[in-house]
Amino acid sequence: METKQHICPVWVGYLMTSPLRKLQQNPKKILAPYINQGIKILEVGSAMGYFSIPMAKMTGQNGKVYCVDVQENMLKKLDKRAKRKGVKEIIESRLANHNSLNIKELTGEIDFTLLAYVVHEIPDQKKLFTEVAKAMKKNAIALYIEPKMHVKEKVWLESLRIARENGFILCKSVSVPGSRAFELVKNV
Ligand SMILES: C[S@@+](CC[C@H](N)C(=O)[O-])C[C@H]1O[C@@H](n2cnc3c(N)ncnc32)[C@H](O)[C@@H]1O
Repeated sequence: METKQHICPVWVGYLMTSPLRKLQQNPKKILAPYINQGIKILEVGSAMGYFSIPMAKMTGQNGKVYCVDVQENMLKKLDKRAKRKGVKEIIESRLANHNSLNIKELTGEIDFTLLAYVVHEIPDQKKLFTEVAKAMKKNAIALYIEPKMHVKEKVWLESLRIARENGFILCKSVSVPGSRAFELVKNV
């Protein structure tokens, strides 16, 4: 049976990279506890790179940000923005499909994962968390964020349960304005 899926349209992608968003959700402030220079980062659902570009600046020339999205137009725009901001060599955009994140060869490589405003768009969350956990190093952190208005508590708790059963320890809740957010730790 096919599951109906709602995916963020490209025009919303433009809104999500608006500088106004920074007033509420400053990427550097949110991500500072997790990113050191030279680390390898995975971002699922990067869209046009609201978080990806600051993360690339934070990890620097010796690091990498793997940006995965199912929409080619989002990634094309991300690549253009990365070039303009001087971080093209640090960001690697990857087109996923609905069955795979296309990250198989990253197994055990990732130091930090960002799942921002994306998990609720993915019908098979068991597969998602399993694939992400596989790509991560032992004890690496994934920051999982969802919009509070859009993702109700019951749905959020169910996603956390799925994460816990598929490769993660639920570490602690984190404060991100307008959002529900949790630190997950790759289980072994
Ligand atoms: C609401 S946007 C969030 C963008 C970004 N994380 C942010 O916070 O600004 C969600 C993005 O996830 C992508 N997406 C949806 N399903 C996906 C999947 N199965 N794999 C990878 N990306 C997906 C969409 O194409 C869209 O670009």
